[in-house]
Amino acid sequence: MILRRIFHSLKARMPLPIQFLLEVLGYWRRLCKYNASRNTDRDMQKMQYTLLRENHIIEKGMSIRETHHAFGQAKVAALIKRLRKYQRLYGQTDRAFLYYPISTIKAYIDYQHNDNVEIPDIEHSFTLLCEEAGFSPKDIVLSAGIKNGSARYLQEQAKSNFKDLLYSRHSIRYFQDTLPSRALIDDALLLASRTPSACNRQAWHTHIYFGNDSHEILRMQDGCKGFYNDIHCCIVVTADMKGFLGHEPFQCYVDGGLYAQNLINALHYVGLGSIPLSCGFMNDKLQKIQNCFGIPENEVMILIIGVGVMCADMKIAISTRKPITQTNKYH
Ligand SMILES: Cc1cc2nc3c(=O)[nH]c(=O)nc-3n(C[C@H](O)[C@H](O)[C@H](O)COP(=O)(O)O)c2cc1C
Repeated sequence: MILRRIFHSLKARMPLPIQFLLEVLGYWRRLCKYNASRNTDRDMQKMQYTLLRENHIIEKGMSIRETHHAFGQAKVAALIKRLRKYQRLYGQTDRAFLYYPISTIKAYIDYQHNDNVEIPDIEHSFTLLCEEAGFSPKDIVLSAGIKNGSARYLQEQAKSNFKDLLYSRHSIRYFQDTLPSRALIDDALLLASRTPSACNRQAWHTHIYFGNDSHEILRMQDGCKGFYNDIHCCIVVTADMKGFLGHEPFQCYVDGGLYAQNLINALHYVGLGSIPLSCGFMNDKLQKIQNCFGIPENEVMILIIGVGVMCADMKIAISTRKPITQTNKYH
């Protein structure tokens, strides 16, 4: 305790570049311990998060405009194998976790049946998984996979009230060829400028690209395999590192993240479809995108938002949410 106090008071007197180095080292220590790529299946939470990610790849695969005939079989087979491993390792502790991925796989099997695809091996291993986990496939009623959405309905809901706006916003993975108008984008940017920020510094910026530039950024982002050519506009949200002081080295990510979420909701409100696309990558990948697309080095990329004019009828990933009791704790 005393040693720690001495260390902190010494640290506060060090030159800022040294303090930053220590800060990065502290973050490095936590990365090594808690990052989900390390010792994944030895930790139930890490295993759950990575399974949710694999589960999402299946539901998002069903939500793109053109799925390849019989798509996704290797991924679904791998997911089932890992879910069975989860059941063996952690089924006693948290069996309920399996319900959502199992529901997604059931939706995937139905999707393939509708497409006249026979997948007996997957169905067999799915039956084994359900037996081992104690679920009867016919009792699985959780809404998972994809649903149909109509542009008109979503736009009406978005304008109705705040609750309906939040419930009707979904990530959309394909759009009409018509580009979204600058007037509508400006309306959304104006609304998003109401975002609170630390000391009202408003250090966010956006870089907006259309057509081939949008496709190319999304190709480089690499999180929209199979649909980047269907997103004809993208907004890169950044935050300016010059806006923040020595004691708040990560504040740009907080302010930029708040702004990005408000912009997503504002785009929905003005009637456009959108999808958040990750910028949570290693520095070299982000630097490459920034260099290619004229984004200054002092800005950190927070999020890419794919934007478009919604098709009259769409397939939308349901992206089932966890119960709030799992993610919130009153102290
Ligand atoms: C930070 C962030 C990064 C994301 N990156 C991707 C991505 O690279 N590819 C993708 O298809 N979806 C991406 N998404 C969309 C999520 O899959 C989606 O928000 C989630 O499944 C919840 O669904 P909803 O947006 O329809 O409510 C991302 C979302 C966020 C918030």
